[in-house]
Amino acid sequence: MTSASAPGKIILFGEHAVVYGRPALAVPVTQVHADVEISDRDTSGIWIDASDVNIHTDLNTLPSDHPIAAVIHNLFFLSRRSPFPNLEIKISSTIPVAAGLGSGTAVTVALTRALATHIDYSMTNEQINAFAYEIEKLHHGTPSGIDNTVVTYARPVYFVKGQPIETFQVAQPFTIVIADTGIRAPTKESVGDVRKLWEADQAKWDNVFDEVADISFAARHVIREGRIKMLGALMDENHMYLREMTVSSPELDNLVSAARKGGALGAKMSGGGRGGNMIALVEEEISSAVAEALISAGATRTIITQVS
Ligand code: PMV
Repeated sequence: MTSASAPGKIILFGEHAVVYGRPALAVPVTQVHADVEISDRDTSGIWIDASDVNIHTDLNTLPSDHPIAAVIHNLFFLSRRSPFPNLEIKISSTIPVAAGLGSGTAVTVALTRALATHIDYSMTNEQINAFAYEIEKLHHGTPSGIDNTVVTYARPVYFVKGQPIETFQVAQPFTIVIADTGIRAPTKESVGDVRKLWEADQAKWDNVFDEVADISFAARHVIREGRIKMLGALMDENHMYLREMTVSSPELDNLVSAARKGGALGAKMSGGGRGGNMIALVEEEISSAVAEALISAGATRTIITQVS
């Protein structure tokens, strides 16, 4: 049997602006992960069990553009394995779906790794990342590539579309609380709406994206220097711009203000927005109290994670 795992991810700064070539920072969230196990089997065909998304079927019955089917078909094509071996593939994940935590990406990366290892096809992280990006397009349309990068490398990433991967050092570990609004909102839609705004007034929005770029740039600097408290103000400022882009929501704003009232150093929505998760920077000692305050304010789930 061959197995592989990939972590969830969360965007710290720069979502949406990153689609327009500005930098963004994202980190892995190792408390949640996707896991894939592959074994040979005697019966012919490739059997897939992915209970979380209710898939119990033979590969042939999945549409070819289904992300799981696409990983398998594309990898066999790339590795020139023909005919397909007889396999049983088990996919499970603890990452909430469509919540900005990279659930689909983590399945793609874990499945690619497990499958490549199982068929003895060697792939570097760079190749896995490029492969996963192609699959991301099936989920998101025009992804920036930040999700597959942070999930593949499982390291904090300072990401600029089209530029070489830059992982960054965290001088002093810090704690964030991630809280879920419980609302599932497709990233494709919020990305599309921001595009409409930008098309209607490019000068204005380019300016806003530049302001966000400055925030991401400053955040990388203070993380590298270990001046963590300054990150809080940067999160607050980034949230303000995300509101201006219309991608926040009353529920996200409510959790952001509950976190600040509960003593967080700063807070913002994270990812596509309109639902999904927000993040709050906290001193470790009060992380549980802030998580509780967020649940009282309506969050359906919280994750406390250390960025290191
Ligand atoms: O919703 P998520 O966490 O997958 O993040 C989307 C991030 C965006 O910047 C909004 C889109 C992208 O492709 O980078």
